[in-house]
Amino acid sequence: MFPPPDHSGAAARGRLAAISGDITGLKVDAIVNAANTSLLGGGGVDGAIHRAAGPQLLACCRALGGCPTGDARITPAFELSARWIIHTVGPVWRDGRHGEPALLASCYRRSLELAAANSVRTIAFPAISCGVYGYPAPQAACIAVGETAAFLKNHESIEQILFVCFSDDILQAYQGALAGRFGA
Ligand code: APR
Repeated sequence: MFPPPDHSGAAARGRLAAISGDITGLKVDAIVNAANTSLLGGGGVDGAIHRAAGPQLLACCRALGGCPTGDARITPAFELSARWIIHTVGPVWRDGRHGEPALLASCYRRSLELAAANSVRTIAFPAISCGVYGYPAPQAACIAVGETAAFLKNHESIEQILFVCFSDDILQAYQGALAGRFGA
């Protein structure tokens, strides 16, 4: 007998989307921050999230004592319309042969594990490591799509994952990764 068709991929496809925009304004249960190991803020999306969430976020992050690369921590979102902020620390790109792909995959997996544990149904990710940390966007997007699609297969509770792209090149990378995994 032939194995039953695997429709789980199609189910995952409907729950993943790439959009343009500023992650701080999204009305989702959780937004993900591309943080650094101190969790004490920075530039890029980290700076934008801290500015929009207000000073309570920094005080809350101080109490967390940092976060290793590839791992994630969750805090309230304070003045943001989201309920939670999941802070994850992406790898700095060197050449792809220093564990960067596995660490980036871990960022998405650990962020989603925290999301599922906190009853998050809708979550938005920025392009982790694709800014200051220099990760090539096409490769990072493929890791993001692959890791999140695999997680969605086993976690029905998460209804939607948005990849929020702050520039056209990033949007094209994520659209390409989605098409590559699920077809155009
Ligand atoms: N909304 C969505 N995406 C954004 C926003 C925003 N408001 N601002 C920036 N981005 C995008 C960037 O254009 C990039 O595509 O987020 C992606 C990640 O870029 P960075 O914020 O530079 O994050 P990263 O490359 O992971 O580097 C993390 O930068 O800000 C510091 O403290 C942070 O040290 C850490 C490092």
